[in-house]
Amino acid sequence: MKHWTCLGEAPIQGTNRTLSLYQGKDDFFIKISSGGGELMSTRKHGSEDALGTLPCQRLRNPETARVLIGGLGMGFTLAAVLKEVGPAAEVTVAELIPEVVDWNRGPLGMHSGRPLDDPRTRVHIGDVAKLLRSKRGYYDVIALDVDNGPEGLTQGSNDWLYSTPGIVAAQESLTPDGILAYWSAGADQAFHERLRRCGFLVEEVTVFAHGKKGARHKIWLASLR
Ligand SMILES: C[S@@+](CC[C@H](N)C(=O)[O-])C[C@H]1O[C@@H](n2cnc3c(N)ncnc32)[C@H](O)[C@@H]1O
Repeated sequence: MKHWTCLGEAPIQGTNRTLSLYQGKDDFFIKISSGGGELMSTRKHGSEDALGTLPCQRLRNPETARVLIGGLGMGFTLAAVLKEVGPAAEVTVAELIPEVVDWNRGPLGMHSGRPLDDPRTRVHIGDVAKLLRSKRGYYDVIALDVDNGPEGLTQGSNDWLYSTPGIVAAQESLTPDGILAYWSAGADQAFHERLRRCGFLVEEVTVFAHGKKGARHKIWLASLR
């Protein structure tokens, strides 16, 4: 049987749940308390990588891209974005739980290649929704993976990010050629339609959790042209 050590625990604001970081022999996972189960594992991050790679590969000018990622998790989406954009890019990652940032600065960070140490990375500790509301026509890519998908898991208040007002706020903070990307554990036709009704052209991509096997996750790529 595998032996796991709990390295830390953090409250999830506005809930009575906690996030916990566990370390095994050569991997880590983050778990949500009260039966919420495993949120992330360093063994499976194909779809988190794709959330960073796919929108950035569609940019006309990745050299100077301004990217917003919400949230940090285990840093795989951030690391994937940094591989695609140039030296003059600016990549902001918003993370609600300060301990998650600390965990990534510690031993967990080696699994994603320590993207927080990259000089292009800016960390915002707080709700990604606040950044979306405060910028107009600014980001070339917004990549959101704050929850299990449109049907949330960690935080009810994240529902706003998948609602029509949240999508419109994200749209307003994008540049005209910008791309809005969402990660989800599964399909959601109603959410897909909501993106379309907000005026987006929508591409829905199915990606494996790990290599060419395991669970199939969804990424929506929404653009205005
Ligand atoms: C599934 S993980 C993200 C995984 C990430 N894509 C990766 O590559 O590891 C979700 C993260 O979003 C954070 N989060 C949840 N709601 C948030 C919000 N409203 N704003 C910023 N971060 C949030 C959680 O604390 C958690 O660290």
